[in-house]
Amino acid sequence: MRMVDIIERKRMSIENTQEEIQYVINGYVDGSIPDYQVSAWLMAIYFQGMTDKEAFYLTEAMLYSGDIIDLSKIKGVKVDKHSTGGVGDKTTLVLGPLIASLGAKLAKLSGRGLGHTGGTLDKMESVPGLSIDIPEEQFIDQVNKINIAVAGQTKKLVPADKLLYALRDVTGTVPSIPLIASSIMSKKLASGADVICLDVKIGDGAFMKTIDDAKKLSRIMVSIGKSFDKKVTAFITNMDQPLGMAVGNRLEIKEVVNTLKGNGPQDLVELCEDIASYMIYYAEEAESLEEAKALAHKQLNNGEAYAKFLEFIKAQGADDIDFDNFIEIEEVVPYLAKESGYIKEIKALNIGLASMKLGGGRETKDDDIDPNVGIVLNKKVGDYVKKGDTLLNIYRNRQITKDIVALLDDAYILVSEVVGIPRTILKIID
Ligand code: URA
Repeated sequence: MRMVDIIERKRMSIENTQEEIQYVINGYVDGSIPDYQVSAWLMAIYFQGMTDKEAFYLTEAMLYSGDIIDLSKIKGVKVDKHSTGGVGDKTTLVLGPLIASLGAKLAKLSGRGLGHTGGTLDKMESVPGLSIDIPEEQFIDQVNKINIAVAGQTKKLVPADKLLYALRDVTGTVPSIPLIASSIMSKKLASGADVICLDVKIGDGAFMKTIDDAKKLSRIMVSIGKSFDKKVTAFITNMDQPLGMAVGNRLEIKEVVNTLKGNGPQDLVELCEDIASYMIYYAEEAESLEEAKALAHKQLNNGEAYAKFLEFIKAQGADDIDFDNFIEIEEVVPYLAKESGYIKEIKALNIGLASMKLGGGRETKDDDIDPNVGIVLNKKVGDYVKKGDTLLNIYRNRQITKDIVALLDDAYILVSEVVGIPRTILKIID
C-alpha cells in the first residue's frame, strides 16, 4: 500500500477502505508516514468529507491506537458526557453529583481548557486539595462506592488523536465534521462507558456555527456510537451567550455549589436537568424520561445533589472548604452599559477570551492559571439594561488591559425591540 495512492483516492472523492484508513493511522502513530502526507490526506478529507463508513473506520483505528479503559468492574450502567467546548460550561460538575445522587454511575475522563473555553479539570483543580490524578483502580473503586469519579485523561488514551489534533491545528483542518466526530468518539469509546451524552454547542466561539452543521456532527457521532453498541444522545445547545453567569474557575465552582443548592441560573439548570433525565432513564433509575426529569429537579432542591458533590470532592482529596470565602481577589470592577436596550447577544467568545486574558485560562498549554479571576455576568440575553447599569463584574488580580476592555466593548449587542429568552437546548438527536 502506498500513502500517495490513499491521498489521491480521497482527493478524487473515492471512498478510502478500512485497510487504507488503518494503514494511515498505524503509520502516523509509529512514525513511518510523515506529517506532510498525513496533512495532505487531512486536507483532502476537509474538502471531500467522509462517508459514515469511513468515519466509523477512522474512529475504530484511532480508538485501538492506545489503551481502552475497562470499566467492567463497575456494577451497573456507566454513563459519560462530552461537551464540544463552551464558555462558562460547568455542566459536568452539576450533572455528575446530580445523577450520582440518584444511583446512576458517572465514570468520566476529562480534559483541560485551552483558549477561550474552560476545562473541567482546571475547575476541579481550583478546589484546594482536590486531585484529578487518580490511578485506575481507585477510579473504579470510587465509582463503585459513591457513583462518581472524574479524572484526567492519560497520555495513553487515543495517542492517534493527540498527534492528529496537533497536526489539524496547524494545517487548518480542525473544522472538518468527520474529523471532529472521530476525534471525540474515539476518546469517548476508549473511556469505556455504556451511555454517552454529547453536548454539541452552536454559536459564537463554538466549533459548529449553524444548526445544520451541528445536526450533521451529531448524527455522525450518534451513528458511530450505535455501531459500537453504545446508547448515544446528542444535545444541540445554544452558545449565543456564556452558560450561567460565572466564567473563571473558582467563580464557576461557586456557581456549581449554588446550583446544587437549588439557586442556579435558569439556562444551566435547564441544561443539567434535561441531560440528567436521559442519563437517569438510560441508567434504569427511572421508568420514563418525565419521571427522571422530575427526580432530577427534586435532587437539585432537596440538598441531596449538593451532599453528593461534597462526598465526591472529598473522595478526590478536597479540603474542607468555605465556598463563600475561597475566592482570593484584589478587586471586583463593574463593567457598565454604554447605552440602553434589550440584550440580543453576549458574545461567548469575547467573554471567554477576556477571562483568559485576566489569567483565568491558558493561551498556550504551558501557561499557569489564576483560579480566582474571571467574569460574572449581571444580565443575560433578553434582559433590558439602562445606560450605566452593571452588565458584568470583572474579578481581577492583574491590570485590566486595553485589549480586555475592547473585547468587552464588542461583546454586547443591544437592540431597541424586546428580545425573548433564548432556549438552551435547540434539538435532541438520538
Ligand atoms: N473536540 C475534540 O475532542 N476534538 C475535535 O476535533 C474537536 C473538539
